[in-house]
Amino acid sequence: MIFTVAIDGPAAAGKGTISRAIADRFGFRHLDTGLLYRAVGALGGDPVAAARALRPEDLARDDLRTLQAGQAASRVAAIPEVRAALLDFQRRFARGEGGAVLDGRDIGTVICPEAEVKLYVTASPEVRAHRRWLEVGGDEARVLAEVRERDARDMGRADAPLKPAPDAVLIDTSAMGIDEAVAAACAVVADRLPQR
Ligand code: CDP
Repeated sequence: MIFTVAIDGPAAAGKGTISRAIADRFGFRHLDTGLLYRAVGALGGDPVAAARALRPEDLARDDLRTLQAGQAASRVAAIPEVRAALLDFQRRFARGEGGAVLDGRDIGTVICPEAEVKLYVTASPEVRAHRRWLEVGGDEARVLAEVRERDARDMGRADAPLKPAPDAVLIDTSAMGIDEAVAAACAVVADRLPQR
Protein backbone atom coordinates (compact mmCIF):
# COMPACT_ATOMS: atom_id res chain seq x y z
CA MET A 1 0.00 0.00 0.00
CA ILE A 2 1.22 3.51 -0.82
CA PHE A 3 -0.47 6.02 1.47
CA THR A 4 0.95 9.40 2.50
CA VAL A 5 -0.16 11.60 5.38
CA ALA A 6 1.20 15.14 4.88
CA ILE A 7 1.17 17.32 8.00
CA ASP A 8 2.12 20.97 7.68
CA GLY A 9 1.90 23.96 9.96
CA PRO A 10 3.88 26.56 11.91
CA ALA A 11 6.33 25.97 14.77
CA ALA A 12 5.04 24.24 17.92
CA ALA A 13 1.51 23.72 16.60
CA GLY A 14 1.57 20.05 17.63
CA LYS A 15 2.64 18.48 14.30
CA GLY A 16 5.28 16.26 15.89
CA THR A 17 2.99 14.76 18.53
CA ILE A 18 0.18 14.21 16.04
CA SER A 19 2.55 12.69 13.46
CA ARG A 20 4.05 10.21 15.92
CA ALA A 21 0.59 9.23 17.16
CA ILE A 22 -0.66 8.59 13.61
CA ALA A 23 2.47 6.57 12.78
CA ASP A 24 1.97 4.46 15.95
CA ARG A 25 -1.76 3.96 15.47
CA PHE A 26 -1.62 2.94 11.79
CA GLY A 27 1.86 1.38 11.68
CA PHE A 28 3.24 3.97 9.25
CA ARG A 29 6.84 5.21 8.94
CA HIS A 30 7.41 8.79 10.17
CA LEU A 31 9.77 11.51 8.94
CA ASP A 32 10.17 14.79 10.83
CA THR A 33 11.37 16.87 7.88
CA GLY A 34 12.23 19.85 10.12
CA LEU A 35 15.11 17.75 11.42
CA LEU A 36 16.70 17.76 7.94
CA TYR A 37 16.78 21.59 7.88
CA ARG A 38 17.87 21.75 11.54
CA ALA A 39 20.79 19.41 10.76
CA VAL A 40 21.84 21.44 7.71
CA GLY A 41 21.78 24.66 9.79
CA ALA A 42 23.73 23.03 12.63
CA LEU A 43 26.46 21.69 10.34
CA GLY A 44 27.52 25.24 9.50
CA GLY A 45 29.70 26.11 6.52
CA ASP A 46 28.10 26.16 3.09
CA PRO A 47 24.45 25.10 3.59
CA VAL A 48 24.05 23.84 0.01
CA ALA A 49 27.08 21.55 0.35
CA ALA A 50 25.83 20.44 3.79
CA ALA A 51 22.39 19.56 2.39
CA ARG A 52 23.90 17.58 -0.49
CA ALA A 53 26.15 15.59 1.86
CA LEU A 54 23.67 15.07 4.74
CA ARG A 55 24.09 11.70 6.48
CA PRO A 56 21.75 9.84 8.89
CA GLU A 57 24.12 10.45 11.82
CA ASP A 58 23.78 14.24 11.28
CA LEU A 59 20.12 13.85 12.26
CA ALA A 60 21.02 12.17 15.56
CA ARG A 61 22.83 15.19 17.09
CA ASP A 62 21.39 16.19 20.46
CA ASP A 63 21.57 19.96 19.85
CA LEU A 64 18.99 20.16 17.05
CA ARG A 65 15.99 21.08 19.23
CA THR A 66 17.26 24.42 20.58
CA LEU A 67 15.77 27.80 19.63
CA GLN A 68 19.04 28.71 17.86
CA ALA A 69 18.90 25.51 15.78
CA GLY A 70 15.30 26.40 14.82
CA GLN A 71 16.35 29.86 13.65
CA ALA A 72 19.34 28.48 11.73
CA ALA A 73 17.02 25.90 10.12
CA SER A 74 14.55 28.51 8.92
CA ARG A 75 17.39 30.61 7.43
CA VAL A 76 18.91 27.72 5.42
CA ALA A 77 15.37 26.53 4.51
CA ALA A 78 14.85 29.73 2.47
CA ILE A 79 17.69 28.73 0.07
CA PRO A 80 16.17 27.01 -3.02
CA GLU A 81 19.29 24.82 -3.62
CA VAL A 82 19.06 23.50 -0.06
CA ARG A 83 15.39 22.57 -0.54
CA ALA A 84 16.16 20.98 -3.93
CA ALA A 85 18.91 18.82 -2.40
CA LEU A 86 16.47 17.39 0.18
CA LEU A 87 13.55 16.84 -2.19
CA ASP A 88 14.20 13.36 -3.61
CA PHE A 89 14.83 11.77 -0.24
CA GLN A 90 11.54 13.14 1.12
CA ARG A 91 9.57 12.11 -1.98
CA ARG A 92 10.93 8.57 -1.85
CA PHE A 93 10.12 8.36 1.84
CA ALA A 94 6.57 9.62 1.18
CA ARG A 95 5.78 7.21 -1.65
CA GLY A 96 7.61 4.13 -0.36
CA GLU A 97 5.65 0.97 0.35
CA GLY A 98 3.80 0.74 3.66
CA GLY A 99 2.35 4.14 4.48
CA ALA A 100 4.23 7.24 5.62
CA VAL A 101 3.63 10.34 7.74
CA LEU A 102 5.76 13.41 6.99
CA ASP A 103 5.54 16.63 8.95
CA GLY A 104 6.97 19.96 7.90
CA ARG A 105 6.04 23.13 6.05
CA ASP A 106 5.66 22.12 2.37
CA ILE A 107 4.72 18.44 2.44
CA GLY A 108 1.18 18.84 1.06
CA THR A 109 2.10 21.69 -1.29
CA VAL A 110 5.49 20.69 -2.78
CA ILE A 111 6.88 17.37 -1.55
CA CYS A 112 3.75 15.28 -1.95
CA PRO A 113 0.81 17.13 -3.51
CA GLU A 114 -0.70 13.70 -4.25
CA ALA A 115 -0.83 12.76 -0.52
CA GLU A 116 -3.96 10.82 0.42
CA VAL A 117 -4.34 12.89 3.60
CA LYS A 118 -3.25 16.51 4.10
CA LEU A 119 -3.56 18.16 7.48
CA TYR A 120 -2.70 21.76 8.33
CA VAL A 121 -2.14 21.91 12.08
CA THR A 122 -2.04 25.35 13.61
CA ALA A 123 -2.65 27.33 16.83
CA SER A 124 -2.37 30.97 17.88
CA PRO A 125 1.20 32.33 18.18
CA GLU A 126 0.70 32.85 21.95
CA VAL A 127 -0.40 29.25 22.53
CA ARG A 128 2.45 27.89 20.39
CA ALA A 129 5.03 30.07 22.14
CA HIS A 130 3.74 28.92 25.53
CA ARG A 131 4.12 25.25 24.52
CA ARG A 132 7.62 25.82 23.17
CA TRP A 133 8.51 27.76 26.37
CA LEU A 134 7.40 24.77 28.49
CA GLU A 135 9.94 22.67 26.52
CA VAL A 136 12.88 25.07 26.38
CA GLY A 137 12.34 27.41 29.37
CA GLY A 138 13.96 30.87 29.51
CA ASP A 139 12.09 34.11 28.82
CA GLU A 140 8.59 33.46 27.42
CA ALA A 141 8.41 36.86 25.66
CA ARG A 142 11.62 36.01 23.80
CA VAL A 143 10.21 32.61 22.79
CA LEU A 144 7.10 34.37 21.41
CA ALA A 145 9.27 36.81 19.45
CA GLU A 146 11.26 33.88 18.06
CA VAL A 147 8.08 32.03 17.02
CA ARG A 148 6.74 35.14 15.25
CA GLU A 149 10.07 35.77 13.49
CA ARG A 150 10.25 32.18 12.23
CA ASP A 151 6.55 32.23 11.13
CA ALA A 152 7.20 35.40 9.11
CA ARG A 153 10.30 33.93 7.46
CA ASP A 154 8.64 30.56 6.70
CA MET A 155 5.43 32.14 5.33
CA GLY A 156 7.18 34.97 3.47
CA ARG A 157 9.88 33.10 1.57
CA ALA A 158 9.58 32.78 -2.22
CA ASP A 159 10.37 29.04 -2.45
CA ALA A 160 7.86 26.65 -0.83
CA PRO A 161 6.34 29.16 1.64
CA LEU A 162 4.32 27.74 4.54
CA LYS A 163 0.62 27.75 3.63
CA PRO A 164 -2.21 25.22 3.72
CA ALA A 165 -2.67 23.15 0.56
CA PRO A 166 -6.07 24.01 -0.98
CA ASP A 167 -7.35 20.52 -0.06
CA ALA A 168 -5.85 20.34 3.45
CA VAL A 169 -8.03 19.69 6.51
CA LEU A 170 -7.40 22.46 9.06
CA ILE A 171 -6.92 21.51 12.71
CA ASP A 172 -6.61 24.46 15.10
CA THR A 173 -5.18 23.09 18.34
CA SER A 174 -5.32 26.42 20.28
CA ALA A 175 -8.06 25.15 22.58
CA MET A 176 -7.42 21.41 22.25
CA GLY A 177 -5.55 19.02 24.49
CA ILE A 178 -3.16 16.50 22.96
CA ASP A 179 -5.70 13.65 23.07
CA GLU A 180 -8.35 15.71 21.33
CA ALA A 181 -5.97 16.91 18.59
CA VAL A 182 -4.67 13.36 18.00
CA ALA A 183 -8.23 11.98 17.86
CA ALA A 184 -9.27 14.62 15.30
CA ALA A 185 -6.25 13.84 13.09
CA CYS A 186 -6.63 10.05 13.36
CA ALA A 187 -10.31 10.31 12.42
CA VAL A 188 -9.38 12.00 9.12
CA VAL A 189 -6.78 9.29 8.36
CA ALA A 190 -9.13 6.40 9.27
CA ASP A 191 -11.77 7.87 7.01
CA ARG A 192 -9.44 7.97 3.97
CA LEU A 193 -7.75 4.59 4.43
CA PRO A 194 -8.58 2.08 1.72
CA GLN A 195 -10.94 -0.60 3.03
CA ARG A 196 -9.07 -3.80 3.73
O1 CDP B 1 9.50 21.89 15.52
P1 CDP B 1 9.24 23.20 14.87
O2 CDP B 1 7.88 23.27 14.28
O3 CDP B 1 9.59 24.37 15.72
O4 CDP B 1 10.27 23.35 13.67
P2 CDP B 1 10.72 22.27 12.61
O5 CDP B 1 9.53 21.57 12.07
O6 CDP B 1 11.80 21.43 13.20
O7 CDP B 1 11.34 23.16 11.43
C1 CDP B 1 12.43 24.02 11.63
C2 CDP B 1 12.51 24.95 10.43
O8 CDP B 1 12.84 24.19 9.26
C3 CDP B 1 11.21 25.67 10.08
O9 CDP B 1 11.08 26.90 10.73
C4 CDP B 1 11.30 25.84 8.56
O10 CDP B 1 11.98 27.02 8.21
C5 CDP B 1 12.16 24.68 8.11
N1 CDP B 1 11.38 23.63 7.46
C6 CDP B 1 11.03 23.79 6.13
O11 CDP B 1 11.32 24.81 5.54
N2 CDP B 1 10.36 22.81 5.47
C7 CDP B 1 10.02 21.68 6.09
N3 CDP B 1 9.38 20.72 5.40
C8 CDP B 1 10.33 21.50 7.45
C9 CDP B 1 11.00 22.51 8.13
